[in-house]
Amino acid sequence: MSMTRITDMDVAGKRLVVRADLNVPVEGARITDATRIIRFAPGMRPLLEKGARLVIVTHFGRPKAGVLDPAFSIEKLRPALSEALGRPIAFSEVTVGPEAVRASEALQDGEVLLVENLRYDAGETRNDPTFAAELAKLGDIYVNDAFSVSHRAHASTEALAHLLPAAAGPLLMEEIEALTSALETPKRPAVAIVGGAKVSSKIDVLRNLVAKVDAVIIGGGMANTFLFADGAPMGKSLHEADQVQTVAAIREAAARRGCRLLLPTDVVCATDFAAHADNVTVAADACPEDRMILDAGPEATAGFEAELEICATVLWNGPLGAFEIEPFDAATMRLARKAVELTRAGQAVTVAGGGDTVAALNKAGVTQDFTYVSTAGGAFLEWLEGKSLPGIAALEAAAKAA
Ligand code: 3PG
Ligand code: MG
Repeated sequence: MSMTRITDMDVAGKRLVVRADLNVPVEGARITDATRIIRFAPGMRPLLEKGARLVIVTHFGRPKAGVLDPAFSIEKLRPALSEALGRPIAFSEVTVGPEAVRASEALQDGEVLLVENLRYDAGETRNDPTFAAELAKLGDIYVNDAFSVSHRAHASTEALAHLLPAAAGPLLMEEIEALTSALETPKRPAVAIVGGAKVSSKIDVLRNLVAKVDAVIIGGGMANTFLFADGAPMGKSLHEADQVQTVAAIREAAARRGCRLLLPTDVVCATDFAAHADNVTVAADACPEDRMILDAGPEATAGFEAELEICATVLWNGPLGAFEIEPFDAATMRLARKAVELTRAGQAVTVAGGGDTVAALNKAGVTQDFTYVSTAGGAFLEWLEGKSLPGIAALEAAAKAA
């Protein structure tokens, strides 16, 4: 993968249009998790110290295009961004146009301008060349530092990369390097943990992973569908009866690549999907009729831990059970702690991503202790699926053309 890196360019006195992903969760005007802002800032500081002038562009939420609903204004991100960057930042109430251009031209070396939500303009999600040309007027160099939105072919992630000298930002590079080392050139044995509710939403992930890793631990509602395909009774368990063929195809692909698929051998079955619901642990083929599988059992979890013990790379997407409700978070928490133990001992590289996964790791209090936790949701999944991400492809094309 060859892309120009902004850290290799002469940025003094230049206006950089930096595509960030500051799409953070908020409640009213309060940011509930500033991780994306906090991770973005450190890569920008050295550029500012070299005299770059930053014009930061981002989307926030999914506003109805053309409607300036103040709920989606990004002015509320300004204090947190300013604090993370350690300097005051200017704000433009318009995303593009003469006023925004003037504000960008007023920047001095080391100064920062944040402009209003990209998605207020219908041109953004349409990858509209006219809107991209307006964005191009805000700077001399384009920087994509938003891996987590690079699966979108939008004006700020795709079209714009063809209009200005284009470079990859520091956080995007960090993200790609971490994911590449875990998926494309993993130290072996490499194990993937794939959980979540549905097989149908992760078919491409599983298909791609079985070609790249030595074993896949399958958990969550998805594991139920595998057990169901083997004839196990499901009781009230979540499963997809129409995915039996898919399961067979994934099994066949895994066998062809010599990848082992590991399923729970025992399961925790509850009467209801509720915290502390009455529950029993039974063999994986013995879920009672009036109960639902909500977690892998202790014997299965011990087996999964033993797998992790012998591996050098762990790639994790999706919780193993109903991690939001106790005690059905047990398998997820145990594997999270095991992964951390191995990371600390220098025994394994551990990489995780996806919204639910990060929530689960946060719950276990181990997010900081993984080798790398991606803040990307959809983009991380598409990467796991082996798809080309439009934002990354545009940077590669720009490097080739340069
Ligand atoms: C995300 O939060 O997953 C990214 O910011 C992309 O947002 P989107 O799913 O609204 O495109
Ligand atoms: Mg998303």
